[in-house]
Amino acid sequence: MSNAYSQLKARLATESHTWLVTGVAGFIGSNLLETLLTLNQRVVGLDNFATGHQRNLDEVQSLVTPEQWGNFQFIKGDIRNLDDCQRAMAFRHSREGVNRVEDESLPVEYVLHQAALGSVPRSIADPITTNATNIAGFLNMLVAARDAKVKRFVYAASSSTYGDHPALPKVEDKIGKPLSPYAVTKYVNELYADVFARTYGFNAIGLRYFNVFGPRQDPNGAYAAVIPKWIASMIKNEPVFMNGDGETSRDFCFIENVRQMNLLAATTENEAATNQVYNVAVGDRTTLNELYAQLNLNLLPIYPCLQGVQPAYRDFRAGDVRHSLADISKAATLLGYQPTHRIGEGLKVAMGWYVNFVTQPQDKITVQKCT
Ligand SMILES: NC(=O)c1ccc[n+]([C@@H]2O[C@H](COP(=O)([O-])OP(=O)(O)OC[C@H]3O[C@@H](n4cnc5c(N)ncnc54)[C@H](O)[C@@H]3O)[C@@H](O)[C@H]2O)c1
Repeated sequence: MSNAYSQLKARLATESHTWLVTGVAGFIGSNLLETLLTLNQRVVGLDNFATGHQRNLDEVQSLVTPEQWGNFQFIKGDIRNLDDCQRAMAFRHSREGVNRVEDESLPVEYVLHQAALGSVPRSIADPITTNATNIAGFLNMLVAARDAKVKRFVYAASSSTYGDHPALPKVEDKIGKPLSPYAVTKYVNELYADVFARTYGFNAIGLRYFNVFGPRQDPNGAYAAVIPKWIASMIKNEPVFMNGDGETSRDFCFIENVRQMNLLAATTENEAATNQVYNVAVGDRTTLNELYAQLNLNLLPIYPCLQGVQPAYRDFRAGDVRHSLADISKAATLLGYQPTHRIGEGLKVAMGWYVNFVTQPQDKITVQKCT
């Protein structure tokens, strides 16, 4: 484990802070919530359930103690409403005294802003809603956080910002033109955060996530990410669609590495590290053909009839970057980031969750039977 991260976790375990996680009912947000509650932190969560789920919050509740769960306050709200963003800037809890109930309001110190509409194809189908959430909603969050004088605003940026820049590996200061409305929105986030730093002395860090995967990532819906979608298709004995020739490549990043980067970025006291953007990845490139083979191999012991099954190749998808591979040296140097899980290790941890989730009876799906 990263030295800096293990030291930070040891420190946090002895001091409680107040955090706001937006998009807390989503994949990444609920994982951040779990980490923070496990470290006995107080967390305000904001979500409108656009793509997140109550079941993710329920699962986190089942993984922490009742006392830790008591440190969580959920606000159902929409980042497109400034009022909702402002409401989320304090943790309120009631303490029962001898004769009365005292209300305590603790201001948010650290914001981990994850709420957004993800997915390149979704943004191509509906650029207006993506823009409203990812740009207007982001600006609301910046204004609310600035006015609440938070210590640090960490936000989910994206590797899609590299756009058509051909260089590999991707280094933070060399970006090309965006290839989708989604990529535009994530780049605008970085521009706004930078302008808030220059204009208001605001303190922000952007995390350019590369394809993140792990437990609680939704396998359902038209805009599901490739790893959960393919695992679900394999388990259900449905065709796995491969966009293009399968030689498109990605730097797949297990969620544990993302948890680490968020906590390091929120709490760093290195001035040179703030008001920056960082790649969040592993520094490994996996083609989609290789990914398919790895998933197939992981599932074969449970589903032997996947032996020899091939993906269904179809056209390349509009807006997709061809190759993606991160240079993670900036995060290593300035924040002490050391990824703990490469793709194979992450898949081993995540696979049990995906299989469990997809085969749950309430899903009412037909799981392939082969004996
Ligand atoms: N998963 C990835 O590989 C990846 C890669 C790059 C960037 N990101 C970014 O990371 C963040 C989290 O992504 P995720 O994969 O967890 O997606 P997710 O869809 O699981 O989570 C997003 C959450 O934001 C909430 N949300 C959406 N619109 C909202 C609104 N108007 N008000 C309040 N809440 C709202 C959703 O309900 C959901 O719970 C997003 O900003 C996304 O763009 C993710």
